[in-house]
Amino acid sequence: MTLAQYLREKECMTGTKVVCAEGDCGACTVLLARDTGTDGKLSFKSVNSCIIPLYLIDGAHVVTVEGLKTEQDLHPVQSAMVECNGAQCGYCTPGFICAMAGLVEKTKSDNKSITEKKAKNYLTGNLCRCTGYQPIINAAMAIDMSKAVLLKDRYYDAEWLEEIKQMKNHSLMMNLGDKKIFLPVTKAEALKAKSEDHDLKLIAGSTDIGVVINKGKMTTPKTMALYHIDELKKISHDKDFLVVGATVTLSEFEDYVETLVPELKNILHIFASPQIKNQGTLVGNVVNASPIGDTIPYLLASDAFVVLESVNGKREVVMKEFYLGYKTLNMQKDEIVTAIKIPMLKNGELVKLYKASVRRDLDISAVTFAGILEVENKKIKTARFSLGGVAATVVRLKDVEARATGADFKRETFEDFAKMIPSLINPLSDLRASKEYRLKVSQNFFLKCFDELVTEVKA
Ligand SMILES: Cc1cc2nc3c(=O)[nH]c(=O)nc-3n(C[C@H](O)[C@H](O)[C@H](O)COP(=O)(O)OP(=O)(O)OC[C@H]3O[C@@H](n4cnc5c(N)ncnc54)[C@H](O)[C@@H]3O)c2cc1C
Ligand code: FES
Ligand code: FES
Repeated sequence: MTLAQYLREKECMTGTKVVCAEGDCGACTVLLARDTGTDGKLSFKSVNSCIIPLYLIDGAHVVTVEGLKTEQDLHPVQSAMVECNGAQCGYCTPGFICAMAGLVEKTKSDNKSITEKKAKNYLTGNLCRCTGYQPIINAAMAIDMSKAVLLKDRYYDAEWLEEIKQMKNHSLMMNLGDKKIFLPVTKAEALKAKSEDHDLKLIAGSTDIGVVINKGKMTTPKTMALYHIDELKKISHDKDFLVVGATVTLSEFEDYVETLVPELKNILHIFASPQIKNQGTLVGNVVNASPIGDTIPYLLASDAFVVLESVNGKREVVMKEFYLGYKTLNMQKDEIVTAIKIPMLKNGELVKLYKASVRRDLDISAVTFAGILEVENKKIKTARFSLGGVAATVVRLKDVEARATGADFKRETFEDFAKMIPSLINPLSDLRASKEYRLKVSQNFFLKCFDELVTEVKA
């Protein structure tokens, strides 16, 4: 069962609502803390409980809307919602309150204050069908931060944390009839389990799989989750590579690349919602292999590697060789992805990443674009381009890259690239966009790329 089902049906904690059951509306938002930060305390983040299987919260601490007020007082977020008339029918309200409590946790821990921009960003994952957004935003701005006691302090319990730490030293196998759930604590255990049972389905944040399961299109009788394996939680870089472990969340990735690749941070900023990014992983996005996966164009253009491991060893597959066809991967049945290895940008390399979607936030892309270029003495020295949403996989545009190398850095050159596009891709029409729209947007992205770069390229 999902975390939301468990809360509502087993614990009778019905403050947590379920509306869409696919991560889109935020009614089921709760606060989840899995790991301790540098201060030794848990860090609570908002997540969608409707798509999280219960076993994924093993060893975690969950605070629901019921856990926000104290015996004496409402949580400052709740007080602000009351004062600003932030609820009409009130169905969405607990989810909004939990999302805002997540905003308070992050903002106060960082010693910052809540801006309107930040408040709106934290609320992108919550829908109100009574359209009470303005009073809700007013409430977010009216939160009395001086009265906010952080959940990580309020619920701090050293003894419990120690107990959990000890518990995480032991792997957990649950066999229930023909069902199996395995939570290993070492990579060796995980690889052995996968080699012994190829049907063991890897689950990371469950933001892709959870939706498919809720829609009744998939069952996962045998699953394995890797989030108790410390070495897979790591994100680090040296002068050559940025290495992102299998269970690093998209939020952690977004924070990490903020100064390393600001353009990638901008794309991650409009990826899904905070709730999805606090739970979903980069590896999940790569292995899900959607032609409109938002991180893939950059990874493909930067010649990133997928690190695959099995009991027989390790191999690194460059992204363009990882996708063999629509959702067909260069991955053996006994392999798991342990990391994504992204080459660091070279000095002088310029990046442009674009996403076209019907609305800006919390929407699936129609077309995506990545361009990584070096320009020297008004000539394009190197160029790598990829497009998503125009074929069965995200594609590299080798012909354009060949034409670009050594060409003059001027608008006419990029107009030529745009003219090449219709002969290189054959996109589909679907509910999201027509073939003609996708072609036109792909061409326009090249012009946009030049128009933006021209202001950045040094003469
Ligand atoms: C509301 C909503 C909005 C979304 N918005 C966006 C968006 O804007 N852009 C976008 O690109 N995506 C979006 N997504 C899709 C999803 O959030 C991402 O693809 C996310 O990165 C998936 O990561 P996960 O950890 O949740 O993967 P999971 O769902 O856990 O797994 C995805 C796939 O990866 C496999 N897998 C996971 N870990 C491993 C491993 N270590 N080794 C081998 N296989 C593995 C799983 O078996 C599964 O096939 C959205 C989803 C929802 C529900
Ligand atoms: S019920 Fe809509 S996001 Fe969970
Ligand atoms: S107040 Fe009715 S759904 Fe938001």
